[in-house]
Amino acid sequence: MSGGSAGRAPVLNIWDDHWDFRPEDCPCDVDFVAWLDEQGIRDASIYHFGTGGHHHVGIECAKPERQNHVLAITAAPREHEAFVQLAVSRPEVLRFYNAVFGDIYLINEQLLPEFDVVTLFHLCEFRGAANDEYGALTDLDVTRILTRRLRPGGYILFFPGSFAWDRTNDSAKDVVAEWERDGGVELVGRFKSLIVYRKAP
Ligand SMILES: C[S@@+](CC[C@H](N)C(=O)[O-])C[C@H]1O[C@@H](n2cnc3c(N)ncnc32)[C@H](O)[C@@H]1O
Repeated sequence: MSGGSAGRAPVLNIWDDHWDFRPEDCPCDVDFVAWLDEQGIRDASIYHFGTGGHHHVGIECAKPERQNHVLAITAAPREHEAFVQLAVSRPEVLRFYNAVFGDIYLINEQLLPEFDVVTLFHLCEFRGAANDEYGALTDLDVTRILTRRLRPGGYILFFPGSFAWDRTNDSAKDVVAEWERDGGVELVGRFKSLIVYRKAP
């Protein structure tokens, strides 16, 4: 991550990278699409944290056999440029898939519709002091906001294969445990590399 103000006005903590399709290193997106298919989830509204430059979730969800509606976020300008090229060359994908550029830690609840499914695979991976400089939300704040925007009975999925899942400090596992203590969600179980929770109906 870049960022840091050192006496300057704070700037956005972007992800100055471009993640290609590498399911052997990071299987979460591929496993997520497999989970959607296993559940028979079609025509659902999905919030997806971390598009990658490949935009796999959006492209797969836009296929006629799925037609899931995906709002995704990337903090990587180059990944967003890849989305613009995708949208221009494949309007049939754009109909179902919108990727916004931004920092999920600035997520605005009033701008969000209600979702059937939320993915938070990269929880705790990229937030740091540079986000604090502009008063960004925490990982727990983001998880709570997206849980509020989840419809009753909707699903929220995490990725325990993440490097941030069970590290010593600031682990996603601890955030999820605290979020679980809020109540109103139940563990459904594991699917491949993912953990699936459900909001109480
Ligand atoms: C390692 S890539 C993984 C992409 C994809 N989910 C995959 O597994 O192939 C991490 C993704 O998280 C996004 N990201 C990192 N920090 C972010 C932030 N603060 N807000 C939104 N997206 C962020 C990056 O832009 C990138 O798309």
